[in-house]
Amino acid sequence: MTSTTPRADLGLIGGSGFYEFFDAAERVSVSTPFGEPSDDLVIGEVDGRRVAFIARHGQGHRFPPHRVNYRANLWALRSVGVRQVLAPCAVGSLRPELGPGTIVVPDQVVDRTWGREHTVYAEPGPVVHVGFADPYCPRGRAVAVESATAAGKSVADAGTLVVINGPRFSSKAESAWHRQAGWTVVGMTGMPEASIARELAMCFTTIALVTDHDAGVDGGEAVTHEEVLAVFAQNVDGLKQVLRSALSAMPAQESDAEATCGCRRALDGITLPFA
Ligand code: ADE
Repeated sequence: MTSTTPRADLGLIGGSGFYEFFDAAERVSVSTPFGEPSDDLVIGEVDGRRVAFIARHGQGHRFPPHRVNYRANLWALRSVGVRQVLAPCAVGSLRPELGPGTIVVPDQVVDRTWGREHTVYAEPGPVVHVGFADPYCPRGRAVAVESATAAGKSVADAGTLVVINGPRFSSKAESAWHRQAGWTVVGMTGMPEASIARELAMCFTTIALVTDHDAGVDGGEAVTHEEVLAVFAQNVDGLKQVLRSALSAMPAQESDAEATCGCRRALDGITLPFA
């Protein structure tokens, strides 16, 4: 990182199709205390906003959900100035009424992942316990819901995302358990992405695109990877439209004291090594 490294205030974590958003962009390689991010950052302007993009699964989609270096990805974004992150992902629906193509903007999350590096405060040093009662940024969520509604999408404003470790899908019994618990959608990448963002005092919003009914929901049979990819491909243009308008409508970057959400004050009293 040098004084000429380009900066951004908005972050986008997603699939490689989002490169096309940028009018002009620079690839920036960032090293972090947690190793290599999934890929270089791509930093540039999208509709007049400074955006840093990272391909969550790396080039050629080579990192499965349990091998993504979430700590390095978030640290890299934060190190170039990002404080507001949009994180689209594919999910299975646990509710018959939320069919493929629906956009869910969750307001809660349940972490059922294991074995993933889940905290940037893993070493002896300051003991940091960030609040996570409300995992997602209320301002980012409102913008995402408005953008998806304006794009004519079927939208669920709120709901609980349960994140499983994968890479396998759930059994019917696991899926029934998730439904009985009252959760809304199931995915593999939402955690620890959201909690690490909070540990870095970044606003974070998940935009979940439903690609399937999870095993046994709505009489459905087993989910297949092919089905997920095909439905994602059918809906990706709509998702891009939503993300693009959400990026342009995000609140302007302000100081931590001026920010009206709690996300930015998660670390009050702790200093991170960023400009
Ligand atoms: N991603 C897309 N569909 C999924 C499902 N049914 N379970 C977990 N992750 C998913």
